[in-house]
Amino acid sequence: MCGIFAYMNYRVPRTRKEIFETLIKGLQRLEYRGYDSAGVAIDGNNNEVKERHIQLVKKRGNVKALNEELYKQDNMDLKVEFETHFGIAHTRWATHGVPNAVNSHPQRSDKGNKFVVIHNGIITNYKDLRKFLESKGYEFESETDTETIAKLIKYVFDNRETEDITFSTLVERVIQQLEGAFALVFKSIHYPGEAVATRRGSPLLIGVRSKYKLSTEQIPVLYRTRNFENVKNICKTRMKRLDSSTCLHAVGDKAVEFFFASDASAIIEHTNRVIFLEDDDIAAVADGKLSIHRVKRSASDDPSRAIQTLQMELQQIMKGNFSAFMQKEIFEQPESVFNTMRGRVNFETNTVLLGGLKDHLKEIRRCRRLIVIGCGTSYHAAVATRQVLEELTELPVMVELASDFLDRNTPVFRDDVCFFISQSGETADTLLALRYCKDRGALTVGVTNTVGSSISRETDCGVHINAGPEIGVASTKAYTSQFISLVMFGLMMSEDRISLQNRRREIIHGLQSLPGLIKEVLSLDEKIHDLALELYTQRSLLVMGRGYNYATCLEGALKIKEITYMHSEGILAGELKHGPLALIDKQMPVIMVIMKDPCFAKCQNALQQVTARQGRPIILCSRDDTESSKFAYKTIELPHTVDCLQGILSVIPLQLLSFHLAVLRGYDVDFPRNLAKSVTVE
Ligand code: F6R
Repeated sequence: MCGIFAYMNYRVPRTRKEIFETLIKGLQRLEYRGYDSAGVAIDGNNNEVKERHIQLVKKRGNVKALNEELYKQDNMDLKVEFETHFGIAHTRWATHGVPNAVNSHPQRSDKGNKFVVIHNGIITNYKDLRKFLESKGYEFESETDTETIAKLIKYVFDNRETEDITFSTLVERVIQQLEGAFALVFKSIHYPGEAVATRRGSPLLIGVRSKYKLSTEQIPVLYRTRNFENVKNICKTRMKRLDSSTCLHAVGDKAVEFFFASDASAIIEHTNRVIFLEDDDIAAVADGKLSIHRVKRSASDDPSRAIQTLQMELQQIMKGNFSAFMQKEIFEQPESVFNTMRGRVNFETNTVLLGGLKDHLKEIRRCRRLIVIGCGTSYHAAVATRQVLEELTELPVMVELASDFLDRNTPVFRDDVCFFISQSGETADTLLALRYCKDRGALTVGVTNTVGSSISRETDCGVHINAGPEIGVASTKAYTSQFISLVMFGLMMSEDRISLQNRRREIIHGLQSLPGLIKEVLSLDEKIHDLALELYTQRSLLVMGRGYNYATCLEGALKIKEITYMHSEGILAGELKHGPLALIDKQMPVIMVIMKDPCFAKCQNALQQVTARQGRPIILCSRDDTESSKFAYKTIELPHTVDCLQGILSVIPLQLLSFHLAVLRGYDVDFPRNLAKSVTVE
């Protein structure tokens, strides 16, 4: 979805050029979230706080185009130094209104840019709000839901009952009117040098950098009573005023910088000290001091927000020698799968310990069934591991697409255990499914790659997959790490099952050899590139398999369609004669995944059916498979591993193939059209 980045330097002199560079760099780190247009709001003419006006620069296209546009602005002396400045920036992935400069963010309250706002998410009641504001004489210029927020805050300001209303109080009143999901950052000429940020359902974090020791590591959350000017800390049931003693600030000359962003990748090069906001938190910076308040008590009920230290390295989010993040992430898999297992699988004792689940294991073992829920690739990880989870947990396992699960109002019970698989931890459908299950009393388990994400915070317990930041829109290393995380869960559940000990040992041994085997698969890259050279002009590509590798086919086809724009379908080989066989002829390229597993003989039948219709199958098979290769137009031979882990190896050639096809077709691999990395709208 959209990316939010904002930067405040307080008593840290920065030239306008430096401010531009910080904002643009922040947006570039977030570009993978959405990239059809971008914009910034900065202080206009001079360094006199009182005389400032806000300058908006917005541009259709990517962040590079915005950067060029910024330097073309008149009256923009790049050398002017700002002691204190607050700039907000946004990269957009359109949900309401076509991608153009007017629809891009920041959105403004009026032609004088009195209030400007950046938004990630979707406001579901924006039409009602717009109607109301139009009835009050407001004229709208864009088609966005966000513009209603900018106009609404001006309306609240213009109708304030006291002169000295604070910026954060205004925002508090605005968000009480909003339905849907949002992360918002506001800037206003009425509150120079101040910032207000808030969120509900969309991620937002704040980085803090100061060379001075911060006065606090815990920011107390203040709760307001109905009387907006009073601040009450409900937890301690006594009144507290929002004053400097309750706020975060640096000591000494109090020079401090704040970075607001949708995710940590935009902040980490500046600071690793961050605060994750909770839904409905309102964070305000005034006079270089950060305070957080809220009207409702938080889901976590935590009366403070800690300043956390991120463990992420900048290098982890750089492309290195690779031409695209996706390619880098495919090649990182030997390390990322190792990191997923590190400290959890003991290869000597054949035991697995997932720290985030251990306290809930008894409860999980007693449950009625497991429901594994996700979207896209994360859903495929659930499909891929369903069989081994059924085998190791001896429980019924349902796998569900989050959107469909909600559409059906699926019955969920108190004794169900529901898993939510999500790389970003922010996918709206998955998050809504989580809340749906929580409301029904089920135990909720998150499997995410993003510490501090909504799903990881709102679930009762969980597993962090530790794959490292995934920037490429097409998910690759997260899939293999999600796969392994779910297998590890199955192994942990079956530790005391005598009848399963041999099987457990076999799987754990398989896990141990995975990083080495993945390297072997990656060494086939050139061969796969050659195959891509043969296929890249095709319009369509079928991927067929069954059993443990059905998910491989779904995932391979998804990778191909999302970055090459070719039609591609993952087909269950058992369904071939029920329809898809009609597609097979001399022209239609078909990839078949045939592994030495319990479905091998049945896959041979499918192969015969394809060759009998003059199809030319490209077969992904085991190295020692002499049978399939006799009928193959081409083979890609893979190392063999335990049947239930084979999908981790067999998906990699399809990841590589989709990458090479996209490059040969001339597409931007990391930024496929119409897609965003984190889908925070339903
Ligand atoms: C495909 C892809 C998407 C995501 C899906 C869920 O390559 O990346 O299908 O898997 O949008 O996203 P997460 O895992 O962040 O919930």
